[in-house]
Amino acid sequence: MPRVYNFSAGPAVLPEEVLREAAEEMLDYRGCGMSVMEISHRSSVFDEIIGEAEADLRELLGVPSNYKVLFLQGGAYTQFAAVPMNLMRNRVADYIVTGQWAKKAWKEAARYGRANCIASSEDRTFSYIPDCSDLPVSPDADYVYICENNTIYGTKFKTLPDTKGKDLVADVSSCFLSEPADVSRYGVMFGGAQKNIGPAGVVIAIIREDLIREDVLPGTPTMLTYKTQADAGSLFNTPPVYGIYICGKVFKWLKAQGAWPP
Ligand SMILES: Cc1ncc(COP(=O)(O)O)c(C=O)c1O
Repeated sequence: MPRVYNFSAGPAVLPEEVLREAAEEMLDYRGCGMSVMEISHRSSVFDEIIGEAEADLRELLGVPSNYKVLFLQGGAYTQFAAVPMNLMRNRVADYIVTGQWAKKAWKEAARYGRANCIASSEDRTFSYIPDCSDLPVSPDADYVYICENNTIYGTKFKTLPDTKGKDLVADVSSCFLSEPADVSRYGVMFGGAQKNIGPAGVVIAIIREDLIREDVLPGTPTMLTYKTQADAGSLFNTPPVYGIYICGKVFKWLKAQGAWPP
């Protein structure tokens, strides 16, 4: 059976080289006598896998040193709750609603505080990105939220909104690593891996360190507290070991493609 041309948004196609390499290492990962699926997440073998994955992602995206890179679980959808739980100190956040995923995130945030929709393109079935150059940003907003690429509608922010000094939170699930990004312009950037990076089961969050705090909303589950995950280097509980391993291979494959096109 020839390989299928898979245009699904996700889970999506992976580089064939990555799949072949993983197949070769399936029964014996680099002489350790086991598959990566069988090794302990506390082993030195996995330490190296996750350490290299993080280092390569940092290099690819130029992640500044005051940002943590977390490999999490629960898909991007879980971040719709984790973001307000960790960031909504004033219980106020502003959402730019440009598609179904932004709308779901906005609705989820409304469970935890006042989530304002400060711009929307729903009037024309999310077929455009609204003008975000002079938004009515709430003075007490804890953050401004966007879904940077609207998977279902195919619209994308070409320029980031003017958040008037508020931290920008972006769901980058369907544009992660598809182009260079200035990470320093974001407070939090997160995305499920299964569209651009690896298999489902891994969600990557890149978070500025000052936003990783203990004073999260009361009732925030331990697992959803960014500080728990950051302090444990994404190894608080058993992480999606195999998924992280494949993400790491895709990072190396991307690096091997050379510099971003101009
Ligand atoms: C932009 C965007 N955000 C969030 C999600 C939900 O991701 P997950 O299934 O990883 O929770 C999707 C899924 O298609 C998406 O396209």
